[in-house]
Amino acid sequence: MQRAPSGQALNILHLEDSPADHALARLALRRAGMECTLQQVETLADFAHALAAQRFDVILADYRLAGFTALDAWKLVEALPVPPPFVLLSGAIGEAAAVDAMRLGMADFVAKDDMARLAHVIRRAIEVHEARRARELAVAELAASQRRLAELTEHLQSSIEQERAAIAREIHDDIGGALAALRFDLAWIRRHSHDPELQQRADAAADTLQQALSASQRIMMNLRPPILDQGLVAAVQWLAANFERRTGVPAQVRTSREHIAVPPAVQLVAYRTAQEALTNVVKHAQPRQVHIELADSEGMLTLEISDDGRGMAPAQRDKPKAFGLKGLQERARTVGGWLDVSSQPGRGTSVVLSVPLPPSPTAAAPTKDLP
Ligand SMILES: Nc1ncnc2c1ncn2[C@@H]1O[C@H](COP(=O)(O)OP(=O)(O)OP(=O)(O)O)[C@@H](O)[C@H]1O
Ligand SMILES: [Mg+2]
Repeated sequence: MQRAPSGQALNILHLEDSPADHALARLALRRAGMECTLQQVETLADFAHALAAQRFDVILADYRLAGFTALDAWKLVEALPVPPPFVLLSGAIGEAAAVDAMRLGMADFVAKDDMARLAHVIRRAIEVHEARRARELAVAELAASQRRLAELTEHLQSSIEQERAAIAREIHDDIGGALAALRFDLAWIRRHSHDPELQQRADAAADTLQQALSASQRIMMNLRPPILDQGLVAAVQWLAANFERRTGVPAQVRTSREHIAVPPAVQLVAYRTAQEALTNVVKHAQPRQVHIELADSEGMLTLEISDDGRGMAPAQRDKPKAFGLKGLQERARTVGGWLDVSSQPGRGTSVVLSVPLPPSPTAAAPTKDLP
């Protein structure tokens, strides 16, 4: 026995101006064992009123009524937040009209002289409707969860950057300050000591101290490179020079201009992309050379890091415990951009970040003051 999704009897609204036809429909459903309440309305105003007053599981509608048609009724149903299935129950309307009705989104058509099909058609229309609702809900839920994930990623990324900057500041102020004082004191001891062994120890301590200072500077640079304050081009060139120094592999940087001005958030995303891509080159690629291309043209920032190393198979980049490339994808999304990775085993790898840029103030400036 067909029931509403709630488990109660189906609530059906029947738009029909012939009491005899309404009675026939009622009989057909009772014979088919369909548990339902069937409410009849004749005018469009009563139909609209009934729709506003309660929720129906199914709508049955004659096609031609006094002064209007089922198409007018459909428009009212279609405007509902969750339109119930709408079944035409009518005399012959012609195949073209029936096809048109289905195309508009009505669920089905039953001819009045084929009333025995009615219960079956209603059951099927409800099943289709429920399946579609479930799919829509699943899609909406997925979209909402993707939105939440994107928000969380953005929050995490900016927290990480803030933490990094705070740690860099603390290393600079606390450790850097203490080490500088220590160097001063060691120099004093060295100057005032006449014991050669003590002098030797002071020199060794000064060397170790120098190493600690260099290490803390290197850590600070990695945490929040001050070079970023000099702009993206300088920062990428600095990364490339560092890469060359560490690996001995030439890294050529080409830029569309000497200074590329982008919003700070985009700059940081581009910098971290170049950083992770170069780290990947060091870890995985074994290349002979690396090319970095940075350009802003037609309102788009593009940054490409390509190597001629080992390359990778598609499955490799989705390794479960590898987060570098996945993190870059998410980072790119936080500034409205995206990441393309193309690679083949033995044929190198290319990582491209693309970010649409906001229109520059000069491009957006009004021209009416110009002569
Ligand atoms: N330039 C490259 N050349 C060859 N293989 C690469 C390159 N970049 C990435 N890969 C492959 O893609 C995989 C995924 O890279 P990804 O940066 O996501 O992870 P990872 O570097 O292994 O780990 P991490 O999470 O520390 O970044 C790597 O493990 C490697 O196999
Ligand atoms: Mg990596």
